[in-house]
Amino acid sequence: MMKQTEWGMLPDGKKVSLYTIKCNGTTLTASNYGCIITSLIVPDRHGNEGNIVLGYDSFEEYCKDDAYLGAAIGRYANRIGGAAFLLNGMGYHLTANEGKNTLHGGEGFHKRLWEVDTDEHSIIFRRISPDGEDGFPGNLTVSVEYAIQADGGLAITYEAETTRDTVLCLTNHSYFNLNGGGNIADHQLRIAAEHYTPVDKSNIPTGEILSVDGTEFDFRTLRPIGVYPFDHNFVLNKTQGIMVELYAPKSGRRIALTTDMPGMQLYTGCCLTPRKGRDGEQYGSGMSVCLETQHFPDSPNKPRFPSPLLRAGERFQSHTVFVFDVVEN
Ligand code: BGC
Repeated sequence: MMKQTEWGMLPDGKKVSLYTIKCNGTTLTASNYGCIITSLIVPDRHGNEGNIVLGYDSFEEYCKDDAYLGAAIGRYANRIGGAAFLLNGMGYHLTANEGKNTLHGGEGFHKRLWEVDTDEHSIIFRRISPDGEDGFPGNLTVSVEYAIQADGGLAITYEAETTRDTVLCLTNHSYFNLNGGGNIADHQLRIAAEHYTPVDKSNIPTGEILSVDGTEFDFRTLRPIGVYPFDHNFVLNKTQGIMVELYAPKSGRRIALTTDMPGMQLYTGCCLTPRKGRDGEQYGSGMSVCLETQHFPDSPNKPRFPSPLLRAGERFQSHTVFVFDVVEN
């Protein structure tokens, strides 16, 4: 089932819609504004449906949002230090929006209006990010697809092509709460990562790749997330099938994540300032967790990190899959 509803209007008069697809036990609603996932509904262990992502009630609240709730992030998810990088011997200067650094692309992709195509089980958003947007080189033709799989999982596919060599790092910024509300104190997490990339005071990676052994970053076996304010990139071990598992014993819901990206930002919402969310719920720190699959932050300036380079004429494709199931008591 696919349903389109009008949601709001941009200052230039362009209409913004919500698209809902419901199939195989999962209901996803997303908008052509920022490809925002406004709602993701899956059953708990008793078969009761619940929304597992944070969101707001109205389009106006999303327009004002400063926390990227549910949005597609580009051209470069997370940070680029000094809002600049060198490519092919040329210096590129980006929009600085967090002190002197660039966070989530600068103006980014998350508040743009995208073209849409839908069918019964998928929604595809497309746009062209013009050469020089936020300072990045190349006309970038980019698409973000949300598809509900036969098992009810959500598969996100990113595709892109550029007219000039550029750097690219696309992700989704959903804040998960597998109990559909309240805090995430009971949530347990496993990340197939032996290493993480430490950061300096302004959250720019130092360039080191450190072992998680004996640190709070060791999630190699499923364990409670705890209260440590995580906002860090983990180096995913691609030899493992399921790279990340998030489980809430209270509801029984579980997410199993796979991706072809080299890293994942674990963000426990430590910077989510108190605010009113969906249905009047009070949001803040410790109420959700973002699992942002990505290139390592500041890779354009860190030659030792996997390269986020997309060459002119090459076709970029990347997949991240969230499978939902429940664990019985
Ligand atoms: C970043 C955080 C940032 C947040 C913004 C996350 O992806 O890692 O540092 O505060 O996005 O909502």
